[in-house]
Amino acid sequence: MSCETRKQSPDGVCGLAAPQMAGGPYFPETPAKFRKREVNMSTPFDYGVVDEVITEWGAHPGAIIPILQGVQERYNYLPKAIFPYIAEKLKVSEARIYGVATFYENFSLEPKGKFIIKVCDGTACHVRKSIPNLEQFYKDLGLSEKKVTTDDLGFTVQTVACLGACSLAPALMVSTSGAQDKVYANVSPTQVSHIISELRTQQ
Ligand code: FES
Repeated sequence: MSCETRKQSPDGVCGLAAPQMAGGPYFPETPAKFRKREVNMSTPFDYGVVDEVITEWGAHPGAIIPILQGVQERYNYLPKAIFPYIAEKLKVSEARIYGVATFYENFSLEPKGKFIIKVCDGTACHVRKSIPNLEQFYKDLGLSEKKVTTDDLGFTVQTVACLGACSLAPALMVSTSGAQDKVYANVSPTQVSHIISELRTQQ
């Protein structure tokens, strides 16, 4: 398939749109040593972290995506300060780095919570009442459609189109750095409160 029929990233990658690419060849597995959560959002920004990631992947333009991915693994988002720094190290324009970061939905320029809760609102989950679950998360965490991350950066609540687990509807998934994603099946609003309590013990 050519780039005429597929989406082309600002980095010149001819491929599928971002959500379908997650976990694909352009998002290589992050090395285990980078999966550890050694820094967090309250840690002052440390260029040494970026240097470590650049050293791992090499300071060349072809490594933009894994480098951004490595930094995001550490901070849970991409601090704006990294763009000029990585651009200089890789000898590419800052606009190119920024273009890649904003092209893929996998990357976030806004801080996210330690726990990212993805409430599925695909057709199967929606008809089995996913919205009351979403509203329970909003209520318990003081969030809304416009404010999706708690002030203490503990939780981010998002909706997704389908988790690929429709037989478990209504389903949701909890992701946190350094751990495997966990899928919850047949969730009810009561269970939502239990899930939050369970996650709070891990904060
Ligand atoms: S619609 Fe929710 S998992 Fe598919």
